[in-house]
Amino acid sequence: MVMPSVRNPATAPTARIAVLGRGAVPAGEPVLRGDDLGVLRGDGLFETMHLRDGRPWLRDEHLARLAAAAAAVELTLPPTDALVELLDVVRAGWPAAVEGALRLVCTRGPEAGGPPTVYATLAEVPASSRAARRNGISVATLPLGVPAAARTGLDWLPAGIKSTSYAVNTAARRWAGRAGVDDVLWVSSDGYALEGPTANVVWLTGDTLCTVPAASTGILPGTTAAWLLGHAGELGLGAAERLVTPAELHAADAVWFTSSVRGLIEVHTLDAVPRNRCPRTPAIQSLLGFPLD
Ligand SMILES: Cc1ncc(COP(=O)(O)O)c(C=O)c1O
Repeated sequence: MVMPSVRNPATAPTARIAVLGRGAVPAGEPVLRGDDLGVLRGDGLFETMHLRDGRPWLRDEHLARLAAAAAAVELTLPPTDALVELLDVVRAGWPAAVEGALRLVCTRGPEAGGPPTVYATLAEVPASSRAARRNGISVATLPLGVPAAARTGLDWLPAGIKSTSYAVNTAARRWAGRAGVDDVLWVSSDGYALEGPTANVVWLTGDTLCTVPAASTGILPGTTAAWLLGHAGELGLGAAERLVTPAELHAADAVWFTSSVRGLIEVHTLDAVPRNRCPRTPAIQSLLGFPLD
């Protein structure tokens, strides 16, 4: 007998929102004031986590990154316990078999002053993200227009934070749509591949899994890439952070994008050049624990 899938749209849970201080609210209900600086200026921070077996994977790593970003932009967060409780409220009763994308948002709050606006959203992982794990993606390089070290060289500029100011990131994704590719990989003006608009790049050279150093480039320090490189030994691989050019990526044994919701997805085409699929991809995906349904 074929059991009904929990991902059947008829049975899948609907998207949820919970607001700090208010608890769960109907998903269609407004949670932000019109004068919230998150809306007016994109002045806020967020984290997106993978909900698996009903629990946020790498929750503490995400909360640590959020706390570091909040310190960098001088945004006072509620106590960590309150954030954890908010995540618990929004995920309560979510079916364990359904993968979720769990987002925690903290804006600077009303323009006239007041506490940060803090809320969490939870929705099913999009089918397109799950499909990308199986099918891989095409990627084109896209100039970012600044040298690799430019952003970390400016002491006024918070680098590597997950700000709600994603105008540049969404512009890059729209460019990808116009160019007919699935995603883009930003390249610095001095010729180094940096990251995608919503993902880190990870590649395999021989027996070494590599990613781009966040500390010297100002890219987002990805929780997924960090976890993977920290566990590379379980696959018999080494791990390294290094700068890389697109030419070196073409020569690499494998190239992937990593992110909290998509997990690890293989780049099957880079700048219109098809790549051989890496036989190690399923083992790495299995180590990371993202379903491959
Ligand atoms: C710009 C950027 N880089 C990298 C990542 C990957 O980070 P993580 O693995 O923590 O999701 C993201 C995630 O959304 C991102 O927005």
